[in-house]
Amino acid sequence: MSKKPRVILVGIGGATCSGKTTLAKHLKRILPNSVIIHQDDFAPPQELVPMHPVYNVQDWDAAPGAIAWPRMVSFLRHVKETGELPADHRSHDHLNEQKDIPLAPSERERWIGVVARLMDARAAAGGEEIVFGLVDGFLLYWSAEVIEQLDVRIYLRVPHDVLRQRRQERHGYHTAVQSDPEGTLWRDPPHYWEQIVYPAFVDAHAAVFEGGDVEAGAPSGKVAGLVLLESLSMSMEDAVSRSCEAICAFAEDV
Ligand SMILES: Nc1ncnc2c1ncn2[C@@H]1O[C@H](COP(=O)(O)OP(=O)(O)OP(=O)(O)O)[C@@H](O)[C@H]1O
Ligand SMILES: [Mg+2]
Repeated sequence: MSKKPRVILVGIGGATCSGKTTLAKHLKRILPNSVIIHQDDFAPPQELVPMHPVYNVQDWDAAPGAIAWPRMVSFLRHVKETGELPADHRSHDHLNEQKDIPLAPSERERWIGVVARLMDARAAAGGEEIVFGLVDGFLLYWSAEVIEQLDVRIYLRVPHDVLRQRRQERHGYHTAVQSDPEGTLWRDPPHYWEQIVYPAFVDAHAAVFEGGDVEAGAPSGKVAGLVLLESLSMSMEDAVSRSCEAICAFAEDV
């Protein structure tokens, strides 16, 4: 009987519109046996999303209420214990208009080769098969229990003004409501960005950076081994390379 696979969970965190899904899709095409796990799927049902105490709109962003934390943690633990990743379900991303940020095919091919050689060497040494869960989420580094489950911890840092601009250009967002194949179209209410989204992001990430400075602070150590990618000042090839280096370094040692 073959051994159960070893699961490596790769966190891809950062603010909304920081480029998490874009990076996750590139990594998925490089890593064999990989699926994307969307943190949005752990949002509570709409009727349970809390109201913001001041602005009286539903608050999908403040960390304590935005995710059903115990459900997410037990899901990640289960995946690791059983070695079973869920099949890639259809995410709603295909409904969201996206500017494609390409990766040079030669770089993709190079990394596919590097990873394949690593997997072959492992198989030759009798190691179990590796499967990769790419955990894509805007609140990955808030809960210590979630951080603990992530083997590689990538964070995309993008300046505030760029995030706001990208979010404005999005014009509505199809959220993942499993029962509704077309998703629910979410549009930000007026002032939602400055009153709700950005303050909640800062609250949830202040402890990750020295001095609570999410824009420029060095990693505080809350998230051990954080791979901080200043994605605006690097190419997609560099972002993918830094990610793959960290993933391969981990995979070589397990
Ligand atoms: N490296 C990049 N350079 C320029 N634009 C980028 C880059 N990465 C992503 N983008 C653009 O930013 C927008 C948001 O990207 P993406 O959907 O990947 O972000 P996200 O972090 O998954 O957002 P959300 O948390 O809201 O799902 C898209 O229009 C995408 O094309
Ligand atoms: Mg996304």
